[in-house]
Amino acid sequence: MAQVVVFRSEHFDGVRELWEEVFPNDPPWNRADRALPEKLAVQPELLLVATQDETVIGTVMAGYDGHRGWLYSVAVKPSHQRQGIGSMLLNDAERRLADLGCGKINLQVRAGNEAVTAFYRRHGYEVEERVSMGKRLSN
Ligand SMILES: CC(C)(COP(=O)(O)OP(=O)(O)OC[C@H]1O[C@@H](n2cnc3c(N)ncnc32)[C@H](O)[C@@H]1OP(=O)(O)O)[C@@H](O)C(=O)NCCC(=O)NCCS
Repeated sequence: MAQVVVFRSEHFDGVRELWEEVFPNDPPWNRADRALPEKLAVQPELLLVATQDETVIGTVMAGYDGHRGWLYSVAVKPSHQRQGIGSMLLNDAERRLADLGCGKINLQVRAGNEAVTAFYRRHGYEVEERVSMGKRLSN
């Protein structure tokens, strides 16, 4: 039976392995050894993992900046996809953001990732005509 819990240190290796499997081309700053300590320093209660038999099978990283909520690293192990795990993670993150007073969630999906877009549409998200811009402040 899968459950969603707040990340604990014993989940580290499982999250690293999951992200290596699901996001193999991610840049170094998105990898677990960088991103997890950064997240654990800010709103660690919004880093959630799905586990089954003590194995990490999914993640979501959320953040609330006082204006908008953001979601990152929504991922489910390929062997466990299409079983509702991603929806459990998303619902839990949305509830936690709403409890903080967050009125709107934003997220980015890589262009062309139709499966993920379908997943978010299923949960009420809409494509908004915006240009996504970013600037790195550190490498
Ligand atoms: C997106 C992702 C997290 C969905 O996780 P999941 O556990 O498979 O999702 P669910 O089982 O809860 O799916 C709920 C619904 O979303 C839609 N959906 C999910 N995956 C889909 C896919 N590959 N194609 C089309 N629709 C999909 C379906 O409507 C599905 O309901 P159904 O199975 O009854 O048809 C998972 O596919 C994933 O990890 N993808 C790779 C990582 C990634 O790119 N993440 C996004 C970063 S922004």
